[in-house]
Amino acid sequence: MIQAPRGTFDILPESAQQRKLAEAEADRILGAAGYRRIETPTFEATELFARGVGEATDIVQKEMYTFDDGGGRSLTLRPEITAPVCRAYLEHGMHKLAQPVKLWYLSSCFRAEAPQRGRYRQFWQFGAEAIGSEAPETDAELIVLLAELLEAVSVKRTRLRLSSLGTPATRADYREELTAFLHTHESELAEDVRDRIDLNPMRAFDSGDAGTQAVMRDAPKLLDRLHPDDAEHFEVVRALLDDAGLRYELDPTLVRGLDYYTRTVFEFTSDELGAQSGVGGGGRYDGLIELLDGPPTPASGWAAGVERMLLAARELPPAPELVDLFVALAKRDGSRTAFELALEARRAGLQAQLELAGRSLKGQLKHADRIGARYVAIIGDNGVATLKDMESGEQHDTGVQDVIPEILRAERMR
Ligand code: HAM
Repeated sequence: MIQAPRGTFDILPESAQQRKLAEAEADRILGAAGYRRIETPTFEATELFARGVGEATDIVQKEMYTFDDGGGRSLTLRPEITAPVCRAYLEHGMHKLAQPVKLWYLSSCFRAEAPQRGRYRQFWQFGAEAIGSEAPETDAELIVLLAELLEAVSVKRTRLRLSSLGTPATRADYREELTAFLHTHESELAEDVRDRIDLNPMRAFDSGDAGTQAVMRDAPKLLDRLHPDDAEHFEVVRALLDDAGLRYELDPTLVRGLDYYTRTVFEFTSDELGAQSGVGGGGRYDGLIELLDGPPTPASGWAAGVERMLLAARELPPAPELVDLFVALAKRDGSRTAFELALEARRAGLQAQLELAGRSLKGQLKHADRIGARYVAIIGDNGVATLKDMESGEQHDTGVQDVIPEILRAERMR
């Protein structure tokens, strides 16, 4: 039997309901702050991600679904949506609008990662991007909005980690300093850390080895090396989050898997999740628009994984299906009348369903009960229907044309 590809899943009606509620919360929370919805294509020119996300990242090196479009152009299923939103911003001349331009999205992304709980090859992201503002208020507002969304969707046991990366130049200087520091302590480091000093010195901060941890306590921290402007920007972000009453941990070793970040970076995790604990994250990306050949444009944003949010959320009781009217048939030859009555009921604003499976009358009533129908109209002979109130069990005969007015009247009286 053919199955869904590894790392993908079907969204069945039961979970579609929960996702719809999450989407409504995002629409409400982000809409109230002036963010407007955007949708970009599922695939883009490969170069957009190679340049935007960064050639050296795992995403670009190993995780992209890239294909030839048949005409010699290389296309890629989007692994993330920030670079596409920036591409759209430039393509539609949004830099000429009042700034910042605030956009939000809910779309699927594709990454060829090893699947496990909370990690898929096709997954969905909520995201928000504010393009054209360098104000620290923008970063703080974005972080508060994500916290509100996680709360509204009942994501449990969340934690916020926060840091600042400064500028690429600060980072390059810091990397040199950290590499030199690690070399002077080589003999005290774990072997795997030692082997990767020049490749990825930041990894040393995540080591579980006691000797390495002791060395790293005295290692230089990027946060202490920030340029005064960047340090001041970060101070304001922190003060605003403090004022908003949002708790966070400062984590100078916070690294994100995308190259475009400058200044503020953050990540929300949930202790409900296992290894894949990152629910949502983002930060400032002041250089990205310019990297895509646009004018210098500061920007900031985040994305949160829908599946991880729902995995870490309180389960909602399944919403019952709403059925006001089930149209049943006493005899097969009433089917045209039944069909017409169901259509009319829907035009009148009722949720109406029709017998479609050739059940006996007894079977039809059992089915109406199972789907929770409020009323059943049984189509009989000569334009007469039996209208049954499924709650009280009361039933009486009436004209087919009177069924809908009677239901509407009864519902108004309730
Ligand atoms: P990201 O951290 O790569 O950032 O992804 C954001 C979120 O997407 C993660 O926190 C996680 O919840 C979810 N996610 C990532 N990979 C997977 C996966 N394989 N399966 C399920 N969920 C996943 C970005 O994508 C940036 N574009 C965020 C951003 C927006 N930065 C600035 N603006």
